[in-house]
Amino acid sequence: MSTPKTPVAEADPAAAESMDALAESFAAEYGVRPVPAPGPVDTTAICTTPAAHEELDALWKSVVHETRTRGNDIHLPISLAFAERLCRAYPDADAELVRVSTLLHDTGWAHVDESRIISEGFKGDWRKAAIRYEHEQRGCDVARRVLPGLGFSPAFVERTCEIIDGHDTRPVARSLEDALMRDADRLWRFDRAGIALASSWFGMDPAAYADRLASEIIPELITQAAVDMATADLNRSNCLLKTAVIR
Ligand SMILES: [Fe+2]
Ligand SMILES: [Fe+2]
Repeated sequence: MSTPKTPVAEADPAAAESMDALAESFAAEYGVRPVPAPGPVDTTAICTTPAAHEELDALWKSVVHETRTRGNDIHLPISLAFAERLCRAYPDADAELVRVSTLLHDTGWAHVDESRIISEGFKGDWRKAAIRYEHEQRGCDVARRVLPGLGFSPAFVERTCEIIDGHDTRPVARSLEDALMRDADRLWRFDRAGIALASSWFGMDPAAYADRLASEIIPELITQAAVDMATADLNRSNCLLKTAVIR
């Protein structure tokens, strides 16, 4: 597989500029940050509310291969469960778009050079690593491959790709659905399974990783519901893993 010389997301300046207008419009519409939740916020452990929408089972089946890379078979289902919770807290969002984009967002990891995932994707300035841009692009390829055959419209497929493309490398969200996918992508790390898996990717022990979640990841969350869920989960995980003692 060839490696792009420049990040794909930056290849079309005109498209990037119009997309930045979307980000500005979203920021203007949702000026209060973290964005308050008009709906119910469930802060119980995520294992009590697994993802419930069985109509997505066919989509899961179509990406089983892609779930076998980089812990996606743990990361994606837990993130989807959080995405469903966030959609209940923000009922104005297109819930199907949030669910589908969350389910698919990291499937591109299965189509990049696996040896570079840890060496480049989780070290140094990892958000700007070329492999990050590649996994977003390959994730869009997966979405365009699997969604049409499952009855999703061309317009829906492209809206899904707009969220997948840039979900790690673009610093700002462009829509409420984009924001909820981003928060779901972060929330899974606060669960004990997320700490177990993600701490190893970053070469950190659980206590150090939990500290990083508090200092770096909670401030990145866009919605108040996600902040509340993350805070509750982190408290539970810190107690369970005895991070105050084992450090
Ligand atoms: Fe990603
Ligand atoms: Fe992710």
